[in-house]
Amino acid sequence: MTRRAVVTGVGHYLPERVVPNSEFESTLDTTDEWIRSRSGIERRHFAAEGETTSDLATKAARAALEDAGCDLDAVDAIVVATSTADLTFPSAATMVQARLGMTSGFAFDVQAVCAGFVYALSNANALILSGQADRVLVIGAETFSRIMDWTDRSTCVLFGDGAGALLLEAQEGEGRNTDRGILAVDLNSDGRYKDLLYVDGGVSTQTTGHLRMQGNQVFRHAVEKLAKTANTSLERAGLTSDDVDWIVPHQANIRIIQGTAKKMGLGMDKVVVTVQDHGNTSAASIPLALSVGKQKGQIKSGDLIVTEAIGGGLAWGSVVVRW
Ligand code: ACO
Repeated sequence: MTRRAVVTGVGHYLPERVVPNSEFESTLDTTDEWIRSRSGIERRHFAAEGETTSDLATKAARAALEDAGCDLDAVDAIVVATSTADLTFPSAATMVQARLGMTSGFAFDVQAVCAGFVYALSNANALILSGQADRVLVIGAETFSRIMDWTDRSTCVLFGDGAGALLLEAQEGEGRNTDRGILAVDLNSDGRYKDLLYVDGGVSTQTTGHLRMQGNQVFRHAVEKLAKTANTSLERAGLTSDDVDWIVPHQANIRIIQGTAKKMGLGMDKVVVTVQDHGNTSAASIPLALSVGKQKGQIKSGDLIVTEAIGGGLAWGSVVVRW
C-alpha cells in the first residue's frame, strides 16, 4: 500500500466588487478591446476596503471544509500560498487558523508568487507522505489590488483578488497512477530573472512598493517552461498528455494558456479557463479554477488533472493529481 494525499474538498471565495475592463477606460489610456484581445481578461474582483488576504482565505477554507464534510478538529496543518499577506508577520496561515477557531496543529505561508499554489501543494503532499500530517488545508489567497501601480496600464489591468482552498487527506493507494491523489510534482526556479517581475519595495527597504513586470519577456518564458514542467510531472507519474482529462493552468493570460495546451498537444476543450472572470489572482488562480471547474461539472472524481504555473522569481512548476 502507498500513502497518497487525496483531494477531498475544494472551495473558493471572491470579493463582492466586480470591476469590468471598461472601468479602466476613464483613468488610463486603454480599452476593453485591448485588455480582452491581449490577455483574455473581461473582469476581475477587488477586495473591499479593510478586506484582507486572510479574510478571503478563511472563507475559502470554510467552503473547502464544508465540501469535504470535515470537522476542523481533524485538520493537522494549514498552508497558505500568498505574496500579499495581511502583515509582515505573523503568517496569513496562522491568522486563518485563529479565525477558523483551530487551536492545535500548525500553519505557515509559502511565497512563490504566481507559482505559490503549486509550491504549497508540493509542501502539503510532502507533509502527508512523510506522516507529519493526515489532513492539510492548502489555500491560495491574494489581494494583488493592493500592490498595483494604478498609473501603469501594462500591469494594473491584469490582476484581481480572490482565494481558493483544497483539503488534502491521507489515504491508502496501490502505488499505481490509477490511484486518487497527488501522483507527481515538478518545481523549478531561476533567480537570475528577478528583474522581469518583482515588487519594488519590501520590509528590508522600508517601503511597500508596486508590482513591476516586463510582460512580454515573462510571456516568452511562460509557454515553453509551462509545457516542459507539465510533461516532466506527467513522465514522473508514468503518464503522457494523452492521459490528461483537464489542464488547470495558472490564469495569467489566455494566449499563454492556449499556447501551453497546444505545445502539449491538447485542445482547449481539455482546459479549465477562468481568466476572463478573475484576471490574474496569482497564487489563488489554480485553486479558484479547480473550485469553479468542479462547480461547473467539468472536473469529476477520477479525472487526471495537471496544474501548472509560472511567476516572479522566476519560479514555476506543476502537479499531477488524480481527482
Ligand atoms: N492598454 C493599451 N495598450 C497597452 C496596455 C493597455 N492596458 N498595456 C500595454 N500596452 C501597450 C504597450 O505600451 C505596448 O505599446 P508600444 O508597442 O507602443 O510600446 C503595446 O501595448 C504592446 O505591449 P506588450 O507588453 O508587448 O504586449 P503583449 O502582447 O506582450 O501583452 C501582457 C502584454 C498582457 C502583459 C503579456 O505580455 C502577458 O500576459 N505577459 C505574461 C504575464 C505573466 O504571465 N506573468 C506571470 C505571472 S504574474 C506573477 O507572478 C505576479
